[in-house]
Amino acid sequence: MSDYQVRTARILSRIEQLAAISEDATGATVTRRFGTPAFVKGRDLVQGWFEAAGLTTRLDGIGNLRGRWASPRPGAKTFVLASHIDTVVNAGKYDGPLGVLMGLDLVEDIINQHIDLPFNLELIAFSDEEGVRFHTTYLGSKVVTGAFDPVLLQRADADGITLAQAIAEMGGSTATLAADALPAAEWLGYFELHIEQGPVLWESGVPVALVTAIAGQQRVELTWQGMAGHAGTVPMPMRQDALAAAAEFVLATEAFALAHGHGLVATVGQLHIPYAASNVIPGQVVHSLDLRSPAAAPLAAAYADLQAQAAAIAARRGVALGWQLVQATAPTACDAGLNDLLAQAIAASGHDVVRLVSGAGHDAVPASAVAPATMAFIRCYKGISHNPLEAVEATDVAAALEVAERFLLELKNAHN
Ligand code: GLV
Ligand code: MN
Ligand code: MN
Repeated sequence: MSDYQVRTARILSRIEQLAAISEDATGATVTRRFGTPAFVKGRDLVQGWFEAAGLTTRLDGIGNLRGRWASPRPGAKTFVLASHIDTVVNAGKYDGPLGVLMGLDLVEDIINQHIDLPFNLELIAFSDEEGVRFHTTYLGSKVVTGAFDPVLLQRADADGITLAQAIAEMGGSTATLAADALPAAEWLGYFELHIEQGPVLWESGVPVALVTAIAGQQRVELTWQGMAGHAGTVPMPMRQDALAAAAEFVLATEAFALAHGHGLVATVGQLHIPYAASNVIPGQVVHSLDLRSPAAAPLAAAYADLQAQAAAIAARRGVALGWQLVQATAPTACDAGLNDLLAQAIAASGHDVVRLVSGAGHDAVPASAVAPATMAFIRCYKGISHNPLEAVEATDVAAALEVAERFLLELKNAHN
């Protein structure tokens, strides 16, 4: 076995250990949403690995795990290697943790070989990238990049717990959030390893790709307010059924995105019917809308069009519509300079250089507002993600490890 294969075996064993920690006590699913006891337990495990590797660690106010390997060079800038350790509900094992644990392996190797770097390395396990609990994403990386808006602290989860309360419950601190940012002048760059979560590499047979851009996204919360009533007595033409209105909108959204092109995708992934019962006409429905495109203008036009369609459905059905924009992130280009280095590392490792645009959101988005940022994608099984079927091949992880190591070495040489 090559050195990379041995290191990969340890990374994948750690993936299994982390995946065994879940909100679901039966262990049947992998679920570690931001701030939950399972999240904290998982982060403790990862912190132990960071420490054992020789990193100086700390937990910041929003619960990011941060490990530092300091450069001997006075006044050195900081290069951030990161991904996230929160998950969606009923997640796969690799979305997020693979990047953190590959990053840990890379840093550990640098420490073991006593390699002096001309920059500090900061390895970060972000506490919230998925945005599942508070419906707004990148909470962890927004703090590190100084983009966190304290207004978010008042957002409540499905149980009415505010973000501020969740931070306090997990032992974090809202008081330090501003100071937890890495000052813009100290950033040298940002690099994240992540599974592709799409089928391009699987189809092409290439283990690793570089990311040129990340799609913009808008998340909206819609509330349809109709009139609850008796399922047996209210005649069909007299109903104000909130769920029927929402259902019409869901199908209109799908039809719109199918017809649209420009890489536009639209998803209603979460639907809540308060007081639902089979014999009650739904009086209220609250649901999400997730809208993404690699291009800003089509994204803005789609947003306006769908909002108008929702208003028309509400008016025709005699229900009230609440439309709240929860998050808007512009499409983001990755850094051309870092991508040149990454392309060299991929080619030098013997692979075709595949360039991809990410439809998934990543912490590289907030990072790119303060520093040159890029990502490498690792092939995953059939491109399946946000699904327990998520899987990777050990040989692909080993190949990506070699590429990432070359990339860091090139970065070192470029700054020596
Ligand atoms: C995160 O996985 C996202 O793209 O929503
Ligand atoms: Mn992810
Ligand atoms: Mn994800």
